[in-house]
Amino acid sequence: LDPRAFIHALPKVELHVHLVGSAGVDTVLTLARRHPEAGVPADRAALERFFVFRDFDHFLKVYWAVQSMLKDRNDIRTLVTGLAAELARQNVRYAEVTVTPYNHLLDGLPGDELLTGLVEGRAVAKAEHGVELAWCFDIPGEKGVRAGRETAVFALRERPDGLVSFGLGGPEIGVGRAQFEPFFTAAREAGLHSVPHAGETSGPATIWSAVHDLGAERIGHGTSCATDPALLAYLAEHRVPLEVCPTSNVRTRQVPSIAAHPVRRMLDHGLVVTLNTDDPPMFGATLEGEYLEVATTLGLRAAEVAALARNAVEASFLGEAAKAELL
Ligand code: ADE
Ligand code: ZN
Repeated sequence: LDPRAFIHALPKVELHVHLVGSAGVDTVLTLARRHPEAGVPADRAALERFFVFRDFDHFLKVYWAVQSMLKDRNDIRTLVTGLAAELARQNVRYAEVTVTPYNHLLDGLPGDELLTGLVEGRAVAKAEHGVELAWCFDIPGEKGVRAGRETAVFALRERPDGLVSFGLGGPEIGVGRAQFEPFFTAAREAGLHSVPHAGETSGPATIWSAVHDLGAERIGHGTSCATDPALLAYLAEHRVPLEVCPTSNVRTRQVPSIAAHPVRRMLDHGLVVTLNTDDPPMFGATLEGEYLEVATTLGLRAAEVAALARNAVEASFLGEAAKAELL
């Protein structure tokens, strides 16, 4: 049994991918030609060099450069449909995509243009690529409580079709989770699910805070849980899924290699592990690649690989009927 073919054939879902970070070379080329003033290379060879991951600061530079070219609904639709085409290519049937409205508003993209682009892009994803998309609106944590408040107000006022969850991203060190408690409470009371990043770039205390202060229903990354036996036991007992992004963690140097990634420890402790890409082209990742790397590095059997794909379906915010179709 060829592992690549087996992984391809699994109906997959992606639970942790950032819309801006999902832009591939073709999408960025389209945007760069539309917005020459942004200074992003508009020929393929130069762009491919610009894209090659060097370090975290360089990653942020690429990320901000893409974001700076998102000026209207067309640009958002280009990004969403580019992501949908790539997901379809990998037999990913459903994705929960993180959008950071506060950053777009700061960068001069009007809120109604963002929303219209998301709605239109989502319709094209379904009709032309057969991919179902849902949205997570997240707080850029480094911008503080003001960003938290504005993100919650925007999410709850606009509530676009497909908005299922509320998140928190950005750097973790010096950005306590607890300060965002009121915004998560408001979002949860309005029926949105809580999916903060925690334990990607800081220790297990951040994950405890995400659970206790923000009512986290899944943890974005959660890498550092493996250093805290009580937390491992808690996450296993309460079946809190982790959105593990192995290649992202290697590229940002949170872990030295896939072989050294705590995903093995997480699985050994019975945690609900899902595999995800975070910012795929910027980290040189694909969802199929994450499954293949983890399967070969950990020596997983086919049934164990299939179980990882099922974990993601079950941990998703799809309705029961839609889940059943993918299981
Ligand atoms: N936003 C985009 N990529 C991110 C990452 N790896 N961690 C936190 N926030 C992010
Ligand atoms: Zn992320």
